[in-house]
Amino acid sequence: MQVVGYIDEGGEATWNERVAILAPRYGETKKNNLQLAYALAANGFKVLRIDQTNHFGESDGTMDQFTLPGATDDLLAAVDYIDRYFEPDALILVTSSISARCGMRASALDCRITGLVNLVGVVDLDRTLQAIYQRDIFGEHVTGGSEGSIDILGFEIDATNFHESLVEAQMQDLAGTIEDARKIKVPVLYLYAERDLWVDVESAKQVISQCQQGSFRVVPNVGHEVHEQPEAVRFTFDEIINFCRQGLPSSGLEIAKACKTVLIQQNKIERTRLQKILSFSNSEEDFWGDYLGKFGIMEQAKYYIEYFSKMGTLIGAFRPADVILDAGCGNGFYGVGVLRSLSQYLPLMESSTFPFHYCGIDLTDTGLFRSYSRHVDEMVELQRESLVKLRGVSFSYRKLNFDLVGGAGGALLPFSDGSINKVCSSLVISYLKEPVDLLREFYRVLKPGGVAVISSMKPGCDMTVVYHDSVASAYTEGNDRDAKLLLSAAGKIKVKKDVEIYHFFTREELSDLARDAGFTDIETYRSFGDQANLIRIVK
Ligand SMILES: C[S@@+](CC[C@H](N)C(=O)[O-])C[C@H]1O[C@@H](n2cnc3c(N)ncnc32)[C@H](O)[C@@H]1O
Repeated sequence: MQVVGYIDEGGEATWNERVAILAPRYGETKKNNLQLAYALAANGFKVLRIDQTNHFGESDGTMDQFTLPGATDDLLAAVDYIDRYFEPDALILVTSSISARCGMRASALDCRITGLVNLVGVVDLDRTLQAIYQRDIFGEHVTGGSEGSIDILGFEIDATNFHESLVEAQMQDLAGTIEDARKIKVPVLYLYAERDLWVDVESAKQVISQCQQGSFRVVPNVGHEVHEQPEAVRFTFDEIINFCRQGLPSSGLEIAKACKTVLIQQNKIERTRLQKILSFSNSEEDFWGDYLGKFGIMEQAKYYIEYFSKMGTLIGAFRPADVILDAGCGNGFYGVGVLRSLSQYLPLMESSTFPFHYCGIDLTDTGLFRSYSRHVDEMVELQRESLVKLRGVSFSYRKLNFDLVGGAGGALLPFSDGSINKVCSSLVISYLKEPVDLLREFYRVLKPGGVAVISSMKPGCDMTVVYHDSVASAYTEGNDRDAKLLLSAAGKIKVKKDVEIYHFFTREELSDLARDAGFTDIETYRSFGDQANLIRIVK
């Protein structure tokens, strides 16, 4: 099978005769390692970034056949290639998360590897998967609970192949990793994320203590997704570069920075290439319909509930004649909140004089139908339980693709100019081709003084924080199957984000979008387990 890789070398820097091989994380491609590769190249290293076989990316094979021993063979093949064509003085493997388990095995087997970086490395895969799924997916497989394929972090994998190869190679538990650690003679740097939910700190320390030349460093204030925080990225890059240049004359000198313009150009080239290669067979409508079918479990997660409470506070109290737009209403969770607060604010409202209206718009029939039926249920429940009369309150639902909104001759939101009081658009604009067009429409339909609250997951957000919370809540509710499906859907969103079909916005980017759309009164916030950015804008 063919392993595809890129060699990166620094424009200005002279080659220091060392090569670093960067393995992609599980579910990622060589493109995700671009920044680190260019940082290393700027400091004189040649870098080989590979895609793993039977994985997501350009190498041969299909993801369902992915195995850890297979991924280890890819690393060894990369070592062969580098050794043969470059004959470097030193060859350092840089691996992270699940792929770090392969890095440990490869370093135990091949003495041409002269150093290993293990960033947030999984040392006990059984335990990590149990921490994520809150259940023993391998145990269930062995006892016949799961047949055919299992979903591992968003990808359907052949369960038997994956599990049997893992057990045969003794790569599934801590004992196997410790065994490998004892065989590694070369320096190993383990970078542990202080708030890592995936890796037990004591187990990681135990593994490193078994390496002859192991060092253990903590990356402060960050979870497993280290790239979530720019400071953590800087910290890890500096640690990795310093580790890789140990013993070189440049060791101890200031670290050179990669040229941003070149990095951006290369990122664009690789993004276009990936978008061409990957086929996303589902239409967006099917994708979201499917996603929303699994999203219900999220509503039990503490962070999601807190987040919507924040959205509600920012949108502000309702008045009897308000018209509310829920743009990208999904399963209608916000609408339920609207009804609950209406039942407090407006119990004595008279229908003929104060018509309150909520409109949910979405791309999917699934979302609209779910929103409609749960709002009806909620309304019936509220009126029966508290004898609240929600007279004059009406709810409507519209199907609309926001990608068709705006531009010359584009569709319009179904409201006249200045007719709306409040807009909620929660976690939607990231998935649109031209989000500013929708914001311009919000500006058009809002009344002067009207408020819109819009959100996006933050770039480099740590979805594991959010999904761990959902899975943990789901487990207590006995909804573990749905939680597993949600993790799978999250994996697919991550893939689309990685190839830049979707975009997660910084607070500054959200503010810029709002300004481009005509808003000047802009405030930004953070919520959803610190993983989502919000803006409150007033017309
Ligand atoms: C992550 S969900 C968020 C749902 C809901 N607002 C919430 O926060 O729970 C994204 C929503 O955006 C909708 N969406 C995605 N692309 C869309 C488009 N082009 N037009 C309209 N809605 C879209 C999806 O159908 C889905 O309901």
